Amino acid sequence: MTTSLYLDRNENLYGPSPKCFEVLRNLTLRELSLYSRDYQRGVKSALSERLAKEHGIPESQLLLSEGSEDMLKQAVHCYLGPAEKILCPDQSWWYYRAVAAEVGGETVTYKLHKRGNSYVYDVDALIEQYERISPRVVLIASPNNPTGNSFRDDDLLRLTEAFRESIVILDEAYWGFSSPDAGRLGRLVGSYRNLLVLRTFSKFYALAGARIGYAAAGASLSRLTKFASRYLGYNRISELLALAALDSPEYYRGINENIRSDRERLYAFFERIKGATCYRSDANFVLIGLPTGHAERLAQYLKARNILVKAFSEDEFRDCIRITIGTREHTRILEDTLGGYFFSSAQTI
Ligand SMILES: Cc1ncc(COP(=O)(O)O)c(C=O)c1O
Repeated sequence: MTTSLYLDRNENLYGPSPKCFEVLRNLTLRELSLYSRDYQRGVKSALSERLAKEHGIPESQLLLSEGSEDMLKQAVHCYLGPAEKILCPDQSWWYYRAVAAEVGGETVTYKLHKRGNSYVYDVDALIEQYERISPRVVLIASPNNPTGNSFRDDDLLRLTEAFRESIVILDEAYWGFSSPDAGRLGRLVGSYRNLLVLRTFSKFYALAGARIGYAAAGASLSRLTKFASRYLGYNRISELLALAALDSPEYYRGINENIRSDRERLYAFFERIKGATCYRSDANFVLIGLPTGHAERLAQYLKARNILVKAFSEDEFRDCIRITIGTREHTRILEDTLGGYFFSSAQTI
């Protein structure tokens, strides 16, 4: 049986650092049988302490979670009440709306716009819309899924400044695949008391199966800090894996360089296809706009060759597919297979 190549879920297919496998090999009975909470020193754990120190924020403002999906849900359940408004990107991860619906919240969306081969945010329009509707919660995503674009830091600062009356959730699940940002997280939550920044070990650190994430919470979010606290701690194995990942900067720098250069290869590939646009991305995936009728056909063609990519039902993306950037070898296989679709005489494009 051939195993499929899953390029539809934005996982990091290089897998985690070898140090993570050492953690699993060396696990002790003691580590498995005791709760992870660090009672003695009054911190959540070695992981929360380490992350707080690295980002320069108080440990009490560093929250742990089972991935950023979990913290997003907790934050929305904590702050959004029935019929209260949440302002979300229109073209983004479907789960934002789903979680708002769970609490009976009203989702209002703001648009991203196509500019050449990128999607962009219109910051002025967003601020104007914010002032008009006064939402309880604002959700911003950088890089955004599936469009791959990020907020520039100066735009982010303008937004957080303008949104002071609301809870602002910044989803940075795909942080790390663009430029490194020493000190940025600490500066952001240090300046904006209502800001919650979501991060995860799932994507950049390739630990999606460990379900571990973290968030940096501004000083005014003490309600969430209490709501999200876990008396007995978190999953010790996942925390140890996360610590091992943090101890492996060289490994992650290396695979990130490969992902970034393969992203460039895909841009170059689609530049040769008439009528196609491969949107510029700061993440480990690219969104590709195709001539009418080709998105579904190409997704099926790839599926028949055991390569799964994401096709969309939303109108905006009906002519698009999203492809996760896998390993070097995966990109080579993908390129060959795409070549078969676009350049074989049976296809007309
Ligand atoms: C934009 C975005 N945020 C958050 C997540 C959730 O990541 P996790 O719960 O694994 O941390 C995803 C998953 O694909 C995502 O696309």
